[in-house]
Amino acid sequence: MTQRIHFNEVVTRDGFQMEPEFVATEAKIALIDALSQCGYAKIEVTSFTSAKAIPMLRDAEEVMGRIQRVPGVEYTVLVPNLRGAERAMEVKPDEFNLVMSTSQTHNLANLRMPREHSFVALREVIERFGAQVPINVSLSACFGCPMEGEVPQSEVMGWAQRFADLGVRGLTICDTTGMAQPRQVAAMCEALRQKFPDLQLTLHFHNTRGMGLSNVLAAVQSGIDRFDGSLGGLGGCPYAPGASGNICSEDAIHMLDAMGCDTGIDLQRLLPIARQLPAIVGREVPGQVAKSGLITDLHPAPESVAHLIKEFS
Ligand code: COA
Ligand code: ZN
Repeated sequence: MTQRIHFNEVVTRDGFQMEPEFVATEAKIALIDALSQCGYAKIEVTSFTSAKAIPMLRDAEEVMGRIQRVPGVEYTVLVPNLRGAERAMEVKPDEFNLVMSTSQTHNLANLRMPREHSFVALREVIERFGAQVPINVSLSACFGCPMEGEVPQSEVMGWAQRFADLGVRGLTICDTTGMAQPRQVAAMCEALRQKFPDLQLTLHFHNTRGMGLSNVLAAVQSGIDRFDGSLGGLGGCPYAPGASGNICSEDAIHMLDAMGCDTGIDLQRLLPIARQLPAIVGREVPGQVAKSGLITDLHPAPESVAHLIKEFS
C-alpha cells in the first residue's frame, strides 16, 4: 500500500523569519498563491508574534487577508500568546499553531517567559478559541537545546501529555537547531505514536548538521506521516543560537516520491517556484534538487561515447 505523507510548507513563516532583508508583502502573497497550486496539505502562512521580535512577519494580517485560499489546503498560523490569538482570529485561519519550548532556556530566549507561563497562556488560548478553530501545538527543542544540551524524551512526553489533556488536534515535535539523530527520532516517534494514537503528529526538522533527511526517513519508518519543510531549505529561529534552515521541502518530497510514497505534491510545479527563491531573498539557498533536477531528468550521453554506444549495442 502506498504510504501517504502530508506536507506542511513553512517557508513564509519559519523560512523567512530569520532572513535579514524584508521580503515585500506582495512577494509573500504571490509565493503562497503559487504554493497553493502544488498539492500541499497545509501551508503555515505567517505568525502573529510581536513585530519587534519578528519584524519580517509584521504584515501577518495583510498576508493572511489577501492570499487566495485553495480548497483542500489548510492555512495555519503561528500564535505565541493570547494577543496573537486575538489578532489571528480576525483573519480566520484554518488552524492555530501554538508554540512553546520544551527547554526552559530556549523558552526564555524565544518567548521571554518561563515554560510554565507559556503553558498557562496557551491553555487560555485553547480555552478561548479551541471550539472555533483546530489547535496544533509546536514543541520546540525536543531533540536538544543549543544552550541546555540534552532534552530528555520524558520531558517532551510530559509536555505532549499536558496539551493532549487540553484536547488539541495535533502536536508538532520540533528539532529547532538540527540536533536530532535518526535513532533518537525513531525512539521518540514510536513513543509518541503509542501514547497519542489519536493525535495528528508532525515532525519538524532542521538540517543544521546535515541529518535532516535521515531523520525524516527514521520518522517515516516509525509510521509518521506529517512533516514540516521549507522551500529551498530556508529557516531558523532567531532566538536559538546557531539555528539554520529547515529541511528543504522539495528535497524531502523528491526523496519520498522516489521511495514510492504519495506526497500529493506536483514537483514539476514546485521546482520552478523553488528556483525563484534566490531572487526573492537575495541570496543562494541550500536546497539541492532545484539545482540538480529530478532523478528522472536524464542527460544526453556525451558526444565522445556515441561510437562506443554503437559498437557495444
Ligand atoms: N502580537 C503583537 N504584539 C505583541 C504580541 C503579539 N502576539 N504580544 C506582545 N506584543 C507586544 C506588546 O504589545 C508589547 O508592545 P509595546 O512594547 O509596544 O508595548 C511588546 O510586544 C512586549 O509585550 P510583552 O507582553 O511584554 O511581551 P514579551 O516582550 O514578553 O514578548 C512575545 C512575548 C511572545 C510576544 C515575543 O517574545 C515574541 O513575539 N516572540 C517571537 C517568538 C517567535 O515567533 N519565535 C520564532 C518562532 S518559534
Ligand atoms: Zn523551525
